[in-house]
Amino acid sequence: MKVLVVGSGGREHALCWKLAQSPLLTKLWCAPGNAGIADSAECVAIAAEAVEDLVAFARANAVDLVVIGPEAPLVAGLADRCREVGIKVFGPSAAAAELEGSKGFMKDVVAKAGIPTAWYGRFRDSDSAKAFIRAKGAPIVVKTDGLAAGKGVVVAMTQAEALDAVDAMMGDKVFGAAGDELVIEEFLEGEECSFFALCDGRTALPLAAAQDHKRVGDGDTGPNTGGMGAYSPTPVVTPKVEAAIIDTCIRPLIATMAELGRPYSGVLFAGIMVTAAGPKLLEYNVRFGDPECQVLMARLESDLLPVLLAGAEGRLDQISLSWRDAVALVVVMAANGYPGTYQKGSVIGGLKAAGAIEGVTVLHAGTALKDGQVIATGGRVLGVTAIGADVAEARERAYRAVDALDWPGGFCRRDIAWRALAR
Ligand code: AMP
Ligand code: GLY
Repeated sequence: MKVLVVGSGGREHALCWKLAQSPLLTKLWCAPGNAGIADSAECVAIAAEAVEDLVAFARANAVDLVVIGPEAPLVAGLADRCREVGIKVFGPSAAAAELEGSKGFMKDVVAKAGIPTAWYGRFRDSDSAKAFIRAKGAPIVVKTDGLAAGKGVVVAMTQAEALDAVDAMMGDKVFGAAGDELVIEEFLEGEECSFFALCDGRTALPLAAAQDHKRVGDGDTGPNTGGMGAYSPTPVVTPKVEAAIIDTCIRPLIATMAELGRPYSGVLFAGIMVTAAGPKLLEYNVRFGDPECQVLMARLESDLLPVLLAGAEGRLDQISLSWRDAVALVVVMAANGYPGTYQKGSVIGGLKAAGAIEGVTVLHAGTALKDGQVIATGGRVLGVTAIGADVAEARERAYRAVDALDWPGGFCRRDIAWRALAR
């Protein structure tokens, strides 16, 4: 099979690394890819958002399966365009991807499906938004309806903070059109986790849970990032919690999306708050998490290619998965200054030594090759991924690999999986 993966981050490196191990694979391309992905796939210089160029490439090269990593091409309709021209694709339609593109739409679907979640209101003018906040009191959460690069969420501990957030989002338009509509919702208390399932419009095949670390600093301090590390499995998701997530947050969503004429096909990423009253849905994303994908791929024993093909062909009911009896953990190395402004172009050394440590794979997120050297080109640059018998072993291996790297231009958190170890 000839496969095209779309994207250029650590998530896409993990997918390419795993797909490259498939005996069914004859050719793997990645558009646009990065320096690490080039070890597993032929990188093609087409941007992930260039929908028509990607479709033309897939047709010209008789690609058998397109696997879409990031949300932007999904929201832009890449999966629809592939299906229109008869190319098999793993990823949701634009209509289904609205689950991530519009929080208001997502909350309405969740309400219709009876999925446990925070109570909420949708607002298009600031007076009614503020009246709702005054009536409900704090703590309360204010969100832009549209995508705001992960920044359009204010968890307000006081009423004044919530009212200020309305002014910033709706009055000052600090997130542009994403703030034309707001969702204001209940503050949920508990421990967060990410849960993933593969879907084909009718069937949801559960993958596993992971826990991400969104803040930039140790002890969950500092600004939010795309994710500074993750591990899987996570002890907060006991078998009982997992069953509740699948029964209350995954299966009803797939059934309701089908009823709405927007069947969900692709990977579904549920952001969950495990509360004292059980798991509650925070949000859906229509893609793998990054860096959660890295640990899922490290743990998955099954060949990924026939599984994604079954997803594209609506045959997930025939698939069962096997997992390594191990814990996987990823430490993200980011460029100094991230998530603020950071420099590009610093040289990364020690990649061979780091990758030689038992159980370790160094996945690339933002790198390029220049004059035979690997240089940093993004905010999040590497995902040092390790597998171990338990969290402690996986973590020890990952940090040993981090220490084998020679990259003064980068940093990482030193406490990935602290919640698991604290238990
Ligand atoms: P989101 O962009 O929706 O993932 O939100 C970013 C972060 O804000 C989440 O990862 C949570 O930590 C937090 N958050 C979002 N919604 C809520 C909520 N209803 N209650 C408590 N925390 C929340
Ligand atoms: N790591 C969180 C995300 O991919 O959205």
